[in-house]
Amino acid sequence: MIDLNIVLQEVDNIATSEQLSDFFEKYLSKRWMIAELYKEMKAMSPDEKKTFGQEIQRLSQTVQEAFSKKQEDIKKQQWDKQLMHDLVDVSILPTSTPQGYSNLLVRARRHVEDVFHAMGYAIECGHHMVTVEENFESVNIPATHPATEMHDTLYIDHHDTQWRNYLMRTHTSAHQVALIKKHGTPCKFVVPWKVYRNEKMDASHDCVFWQVEWVVIDRGLSIAHFKAEMDNILEAILENESIESRLRPWYFPFVEPWFEIDAKYTFKNKDKWLEILGAWMIHPAVLKQAWLDPHERSGFAFGLWLTRLVAIKYWIDDVRLLTNADLRFLQSF
Ligand code: DAH
Repeated sequence: MIDLNIVLQEVDNIATSEQLSDFFEKYLSKRWMIAELYKEMKAMSPDEKKTFGQEIQRLSQTVQEAFSKKQEDIKKQQWDKQLMHDLVDVSILPTSTPQGYSNLLVRARRHVEDVFHAMGYAIECGHHMVTVEENFESVNIPATHPATEMHDTLYIDHHDTQWRNYLMRTHTSAHQVALIKKHGTPCKFVVPWKVYRNEKMDASHDCVFWQVEWVVIDRGLSIAHFKAEMDNILEAILENESIESRLRPWYFPFVEPWFEIDAKYTFKNKDKWLEILGAWMIHPAVLKQAWLDPHERSGFAFGLWLTRLVAIKYWIDDVRLLTNADLRFLQSF
């Protein structure tokens, strides 16, 4: 007969679930009980068999109870261990991972692209480095024009003379002719991108700034078409901001007639007018450069100074802040 104390001691020593199943296999599976009973009962009288059977029953019940209790204990221990392992300390302050986000100028450019895209315009970007002919001659700026002088333009200085004919585009108008040729007529496209100037930098001038070139070419375009389309565009770009504006005659070699729009900009209680766009009907000389007959085709265009528009919309009193890396400023938008 099995010694109950030894068996209970064995239960007590169980520490893992593997040991639990070993113990179950050894003492509690039916196979063991039947084998034991057979072995011991063979030589017994019927009465002895009866009491022995009862004894076995009691024994196996006691062992079963001790085993079940141990099973519970081990389960609980495993849970505790798991909980300690998965512990979340809710009192710890969360560490914030800095998220990158787009600069105001990039967001403004995307907004402009969305506006024009929805109106059926092609969005172009052109090369940042262009030839002297593209930047000036193609848009009716003769080589003698003051804008071609060094104080405005960043020329490429290269030992290979072929590259000396290149410069950093000073305006997105540099792409007008090539893009009209590319799209054919009628066409409408915009070039919302960066331009470069050899500027003396101040609060309203930076040497890199963003422009939006807007071009429409078709037969019989009039000033009425121009005005209606421009009003729609400006309303969508300005997003109903009540920005006060004024229209002024101005001269650009690539449009005729021409004008400029200034927007009122109030900062620190001081009013200032800033030019935000130049525009009007594309000059016949430019249409001819694009292989179009000015009697047959007409076009209008504007060049919008996006950097200034952003400054006005967000009340930024120095455009250089938009492109320097002062996170205190950039993160405030
Ligand atoms: N390209 C001119 C500049 O940067 C801006 C401009 C004026 C563009 C009139 C135009 C326009 O398309 O019609 O100063």
